[in-house]
Formats: sequence, structure tokens, C-alpha cells
Amino acid sequence: MTEQDFILKSYDSDLNEGAVKWTSPSNIALVKYWGKRAHQIPENPSISFTLSNCKTITEVSFTKKEGSDFSFDVYFEGEKNEAFKPKIQTFFERIEAYVPFLRDFHFKIDTSNTFPHSSGIASSASGMSALALCLMSIEKQLGVTHNTDFFNKKASFLARLGSGSACRSIEGELVVWGQNKSTASSDLFGVRYAEDVHANFKNYQDTILLVDKGEKQVSSTVGHKLMFGHPFAAQRFNQAHENLEKLTAILKSGDLDEFINIVESEALTLHAMMMTSMPYFILMKPNTLEIINKIWSYRKESDSKLCFTLDAGANVHLLYPENEKDTVLRFIENQLSRYCQNGHFIEDQVGKGSECVKN
Ligand code: PMV
Repeated sequence: MTEQDFILKSYDSDLNEGAVKWTSPSNIALVKYWGKRAHQIPENPSISFTLSNCKTITEVSFTKKEGSDFSFDVYFEGEKNEAFKPKIQTFFERIEAYVPFLRDFHFKIDTSNTFPHSSGIASSASGMSALALCLMSIEKQLGVTHNTDFFNKKASFLARLGSGSACRSIEGELVVWGQNKSTASSDLFGVRYAEDVHANFKNYQDTILLVDKGEKQVSSTVGHKLMFGHPFAAQRFNQAHENLEKLTAILKSGDLDEFINIVESEALTLHAMMMTSMPYFILMKPNTLEIINKIWSYRKESDSKLCFTLDAGANVHLLYPENEKDTVLRFIENQLSRYCQNGHFIEDQVGKGSECVKN
């Protein structure tokens, strides 16, 4: 498929108003996307677990309007929010060729998250995917017919133009984004991972330790740009292809030791890229390292398959099999929660993707 396939050419212009509502989850990458080309095309393939509990709920109401400017109001957790508007304005500008009805209506965008706003958890993946899904439902109300496959692809395509990793939040439980030779894939949208997945990964757990709830020190827009002219860029992009290939074999065999090796190495490589860029950044905090060392000791002392991954920040995602849920939660409460801000962590697990509330 190409970009052209997503351009909406005609629709029913008689509709005057309506409302749609979706929930969409966050996701956590196992092989990380870091570095992009123009139009949010990734420099390397990535794969993520879709989450279950950490999600955004968005309702979009629309009424026909005069004039051709974009017109919208944003409400976050019930309160009018001006801070989100520029991001949504940019999003609308990027996607208007594909959803030209954006200029026909005034939109009221009512959004909230199931996780605390100031948790340092990226809400862009869940937020942008939820909004993209709402726009697809509006497209449907305008008389456009599409099957579920096209609906999901276009929702993912639009979400990608809002925030790259958002394209991996439409479906579950594993989603690949970025062309590669190991899996079905596209640079334009996320594709549900359809290869065999071993029962070890069923209901895989993700407990997010909130080490630093502040604003991100480096926005991902800035972060991706640091890969331009980065001395290790080419090697890194190759490594992501290799790691994805290895991971497809691991997901099939259920080899959790090898899973740990790839996932932790990917997390540290992402941070290594930021430490070795110009300008350079250290996004971990002392408590991030305390937690990593505790995990490594815990694994030495037990036969646990607990491992960590990181986003572009200080918080730590703990990934582990469902059968270790009780023991790992006890370990977190006894030994890791002290490194979290106000002792906060969020229990989540792999999920099935977005859900329509009002179509
Ligand atoms: O979607 P963005 O542009 O916010 O980039 C996010 C990139 C990472 O979260 C660091 C990695 C990933 O693949 O999700």
C-alpha cells in the first residue's frame, strides 16, 4: 500500500453533527524505534507489546461549520486545555489530505487518561491513536465504507503522523512497524504480529516504576533528530533489524533468557544513543540504575525471568511472565518501590488494543 491509498476522495457532505468515542492503550517497545526520516518514516523497524490498563479515552463531538480554518477545542479530564492545541493543530495539518472533512466541522475533543498525567508515562501513543480512531469513525459516519483491516491500517497510518510509536497502539498483542525481512510490515502503519507466539508470553506483565514523574528532559522529536549524523546511526539501524529477526525466533521458541538479552540490550542501546549524540544526554536517574542492579541481583539469586526495558526517560518497565506475578510484585513492594517517586508504580500487562465505545 502507498500513501495514495489513504486519501479520502469523496464523502457524504449532508451530515451536520455527531459524536464518536474510543479508548486506545499505550505500548512498550521491545525493539526500539529511534531515528526517523521525513513524514514520520522510521529509520529502523520496531516491535512492541500493546498494553492493557494504561490508556486514553477520547470522545470527539463534531458540528458543521462555515469557513475553512481548522476549528477545535480540547478538554483534558473535563477542563478546557490550551496546552494540547498546538500538537493537535500540527497533527491536523499533517493528515488533512487523508481526512479532508477536518475543515468542515468544529470538533470538541474530550480526552482523559487512566494513568496520572504527571507520571512521566508517554501519553502521545495512546492519545494520538485514540484521536486517529475517532477520526476514522467520523469518516465512517460520512458514509465511507471500509472493512476492519483498512479501518485499522488507516487509523494506524494517521496515528503515525501524530506520533510515530502511536501507530503500534491500534491492535494487540504485538505490533511491528517499519519494513523488515523477518515479518509482515510497512513503514506507513503498524502491523499486528501474526507469527507464532509461545505460551510463555501470554498475559506478559509490565509493571511501570515511576522513577521520575517530571516532564521529559528531551522530547522525542529532539531525540529522533539526534540520530541525524550520529556516529553510530548505521550500526544501530542494522542492529535493530538483527534484533527483530532474533526476537521473532525467541517469540516462537519461548526462550525467556534470550528474550531478556535482547530486550535489556535494546533499552540500554537506546540510552547509549543519547549518551553518544551531540548534544549528549543522560536520561536515567540514579534510581533507574539502582533498580537495574536490583533486578540483576534478583535474577542471580532466583530463577526469575524478570527483565527491564526503558523509554526515553528514567522510568523502568518491568517485564515478566504471568506465573511470576505474585513473587515479582512482592519483590517490587519490598525492594523497588523505595526508588519510585512517592512509591508509585503502575501494574499493567499485554493487551488487545483499542476499543470502540461510540461509533
Ligand atoms: O513516538 P515517539 O516519536 O514519541 O518516539 C518514541 C520512541 C521510544 O518510545 C523511545 C521507542 C519506541 O519505539 O516506542
